[in-house]
Formats: sequence, structure tokens, C-alpha cells
Amino acid sequence: MQPENRILDTLRDSGSIYVSGEDLCKLAGVSRAAVWKRIEKLREEGYDIEALPHLGYRLAGIPDALIPGEIKWKLKTRYLGREIISYNKIDSTNTAAYELAEQGLAEGAVIFADEQTKGRGRHGRTWYSAPGCGIYMSCVLRPHMAPNEIPKITLIAAVAVVKSIREYTGLAAMIKWPNDILVNGRKVCGILTEMKAEQDRIDFIILGIGINVNSRSKDLPRAGSSLKEELGPSRRGEDISRVDLAKKILEAIEKYYNILKTRGSGSIIDEWKEFSAMLGSRVKIVLPNRTFEADAHNIDPDGALVVRLDSGMLEKVSSGDVVMMR
Ligand code: BTN
Repeated sequence: MQPENRILDTLRDSGSIYVSGEDLCKLAGVSRAAVWKRIEKLREEGYDIEALPHLGYRLAGIPDALIPGEIKWKLKTRYLGREIISYNKIDSTNTAAYELAEQGLAEGAVIFADEQTKGRGRHGRTWYSAPGCGIYMSCVLRPHMAPNEIPKITLIAAVAVVKSIREYTGLAAMIKWPNDILVNGRKVCGILTEMKAEQDRIDFIILGIGINVNSRSKDLPRAGSSLKEELGPSRRGEDISRVDLAKKILEAIEKYYNILKTRGSGSIIDEWKEFSAMLGSRVKIVLPNRTFEADAHNIDPDGALVVRLDSGMLEKVSSGDVVMMR
């Protein structure tokens, strides 16, 4: 472990008890000046560190910041999030992750940003990414899969996110095929899966996830909402921890990604169906060349939506926009 992490971890472990500067030097194996510099750096990152003469240092508050020291703390994954790069402000975490993956960034690395200036959604849309209130993250994955299997990655991400939101907030989050998470019918999360591929082989996938966590309505597009808004007035005073939710999501994605690679998509599809906001409903499918209405019937093992046309025929929809009819 690096000396700077050792200082933070020692302060965490000591809870409300002060740790002397001398003990921090010994534990981290660095000079008094180096300890002081690290404490200053931690304070800049938002850690509230109290210092008292003769007593030493005490951690009085931790920031809800999507930074490596917070995300990695007690993160229960083997490889996802073991390498984390965090930005205060960036154009898009998906764009950054794509460029870094082209330069060889390893499977499991995750890029976070507190704010995005050009957050991207599907079909060239904008993803509103105000500072300090959302989770904007992109995971680098390098599965041995054919390019046409990419919808399965969106599928596992949707299941991982919907379950994590449910467990962490108690909100009845639902999945709208292929990449939206809704609460009370309003969108709180979008998933943008992009890839670089050869003809028959994926080079890498960038799994981008945007969640409106503590965003207020003024920071959101008209049809969007946030977890905090959906908690309702009684719990709207509480901020939801972005760090804890992001950790839960990383743990869930790794779990479902492992299942997908070893056992295929079968059991994950079953969970997907359990949380589907759409199956059984009347939907409008908007494809580049045609728009039609049908009944959402099923999801197939590749992650495609199967709809029943009014003629009774089944049709598979692999991409496109789906509007739920009231
Ligand atoms: C959609 O709903 O159309 C997908 C939205 C995906 C937004 C996330 S935020 C993190 C990552 N970086 C981006 O620019 N987009 C994705």
C-alpha cells in the first residue's frame, strides 16, 4: 500500500481517536513533512481532518466524492474498480475511457467524473451532468465476445443498477429496455454501451452509466428525475451517498459479468424480466426507417426485445427507441 493511503486508512481505523504525527510517520514510513503534505492534500480532496497540538490528527468527516480513496475503501470486487481514474470535470467519461482503452487501459478500470461538460446519451443525445449530484462512470471491459453480443452487456448493467438502487434506496426502480432505469415512470439512469471491435471480435467495451442521484429538478431535463426527487418530501432532506451506491453497482456489475462469461445470460434474463417496466405493455418502436406499435412480449437471450405485432407475428428488435404507451 502506498504511504498516502496508509495515512488515510490509519485515520479511518482510529475513528474518533487522535493519532499522533509521530505514529503516522512510523506507520507510513515517511517524514513529518511528508505526513503534513499528505494531510493537506486530503483536506483539499474534501476530508475534514482535525489537528490538535500534543494529540495529533483525527478524521472528522469524509467527502461523498467519487475519488479512488473513497471508492476503493472496502470495495468487494476482484477486478472491477481496482484501477480508478477520477476527474473533477471532463467532457465525457465514455470518451475518456475509450481513448485510454485504446492506449491499453486494462479490463476493470473505471473512470469517474464529478461533472461532465459533454455527457453523451444514446442517439447523439445529451446527458445532463451537473456537478456534485450524479454518478457519471465508465467501465472498461474486454470480454471474449462477438460484436453482436454487446446488448448482453447493457442487459447485465441494467440488472446490476436496478438491483443496487432498490437495495440501497428502497425505491422500486424498473428497467425500460434497453438502457433506461425508471422510478415511478421517470428516468433516473441511462446506460451507454460503446465498443471498439474487429469484424468478429470485441477489442473493448466502454460501459457508461449516468445516474441522477441527488440532482434537483433545475439540474435535470424535463422528463428526467433523480433518486432524491423520487424519495419524496419526507426523505428529500437526506443526501444519498454517491460513493456507497457506486460501490454497490460495481460489485453487482462484476458479479453479473462473471455469471455472463461463465454461464451465459439465462439466469440474468430472468432477473431482468422481474424488473421490467415494459413487458406486457403496449409500446411504440421507433426505428431509423419505420415506426410501429406492438405489445412488448419478451426479451431473448441476446438481449433483444421481442414484440408481438397486431398481426400476431413476433418480431425481434435489437436497437431503436421504445416509447411506452399509456
Ligand atoms: C442514455 O440514456 O441515452 C445513456 C446515458 C449515458 C450517460 C453516461 S454518464 C457516464 C457516461 N459518459 C457519457 O458521456 N455518457 C455515459
